[in-house]
Amino acid sequence: MTTEKEIIARLKPGCICKGIKLHEIMHAIEQGASSFAEISQIIGIGGGSCKSRRCKPKVTELLTGKTEASDNDRKSGV
Ligand code: FES
Repeated sequence: MTTEKEIIARLKPGCICKGIKLHEIMHAIEQGASSFAEISQIIGIGGGSCKSRRCKPKVTELLTGKTEASDNDRKSGV
């Protein structure tokens, strides 16, 4: 079953220059990518006309959220 968050991510742009949706970035992170460079290598974001000024902050935000969630999981013993 698809969650509301996933549906929204399928509609939102991730990298406008390359036409890559947000859910593709989220999927790369779920698969273990842990930096903008890794995600760029996997799905091809970045390197567009904006020189990653639009997509890099989104990736950083997603990676930071992942790190904080992992930290919280560790602290709570999950
Ligand atoms: S939005 Fe990703 S390179 Fe411009």
